[in-house]
Amino acid sequence: MTDRIVLGIESSCDETGVGLVRLAADGSVELLADAVASSVDQHARFGGVVPEIASRAHLEAMVPTMRQALDESGLKLSDVDAVAVTAGPGLAGALMVGVAAAKAYASALQVPLYGVNHLAGHVAVDTLEHGPLPDRCLALLVSGGHTQLLLVEGIAEKITEIGTTIDDAAGEAYDKVARVLDLPYPGGPPIDEQAKAGNPEAIDFPRGLTGPRDPEFDFSFSGLKTAVARWVETAQRDGREIPVADVCASFQESVADVLTAKAVRAARELEVDTLVISGGVAANSRLSELAAQRCREAGITLRVPRPRLCTDNGAMIAALGAHVIAAGAKPSPLDMPADPGLPVGTLVVQ
Ligand code: KG4
Ligand code: ZN
Repeated sequence: MTDRIVLGIESSCDETGVGLVRLAADGSVELLADAVASSVDQHARFGGVVPEIASRAHLEAMVPTMRQALDESGLKLSDVDAVAVTAGPGLAGALMVGVAAAKAYASALQVPLYGVNHLAGHVAVDTLEHGPLPDRCLALLVSGGHTQLLLVEGIAEKITEIGTTIDDAAGEAYDKVARVLDLPYPGGPPIDEQAKAGNPEAIDFPRGLTGPRDPEFDFSFSGLKTAVARWVETAQRDGREIPVADVCASFQESVADVLTAKAVRAARELEVDTLVISGGVAANSRLSELAAQRCREAGITLRVPRPRLCTDNGAMIAALGAHVIAAGAKPSPLDMPADPGLPVGTLVVQ
């Protein structure tokens, strides 16, 4: 079997991504292009992603982003051997734009179509940077839309959810706390920056779902967000100046503490020795620092893709597409629907 070029299309949230990878005969996957257009600026004044705006932005960005990816790689559309696309989970209207585009490219080029799982894509992308994953590993996905602990037993074989958030996603908590503090959207980067000058022990914010009777591997950030809002309200009522850096550092410490403690505990209990952290929040400086420290202490290998690959992109979908093709998966039917609630166990829509 010769090398195959796999095109990946991502449109589940506010990033339009087109990626190209080369799948070699030995199953290795190489990144050739990663073009992304984001509509994040258009959502900023609403403090969160507005689905209708995202869908429209995908429509406008799809063809230019495709052109950019082809230019970056020096390839032509006719070089593409397979098309992979995010089938779900994600925003319905946003997913539909990518799925429709992928179907059009696949049928025009007469190549197979693979509708793949966005969450698995966040894990698969790490193979572009750090090579093949071990047979079993744990993944922590943390972004504006997801907070999940996944047991990965072969990236193209089996993914099982071990834990998830029962309310807000980790990134969502950052975005909401930023709003309370009058910091810009998305809230992760400004809070991360402010926290550097603050004391993480200044305020004892709650650690969600860490009581003895709480589910061990699920997360909750809504109580923490409310605690921050109450603390700020009280300080304002008392006429005190808000110590923004201390609030940010203390909030961030709670998030990083809970995420890393649960991830390391799950790795120990499931007897896996590799943890992959991906998603926009993986860029957080305190999270990566604490994860590195706790993984080192527990003898766990930590893998974090570079920030550009952690956030939503087309390369992660192309990478997952390449892995499922290498594993011999059947293509998806051309009438495949977008599925906003696609379960994490479904790696390819059949
Ligand atoms: O993966 P992503 O780009 O999009 C999805 O939500 O799928 O993640 C965006 C999220 C936002 O909530 C943003 O506030 C958060 O990632 N984020 C961060 C940092 N950079 C981005 N959160 C904490 N610290 C950061 N440095
Ligand atoms: Zn994502």
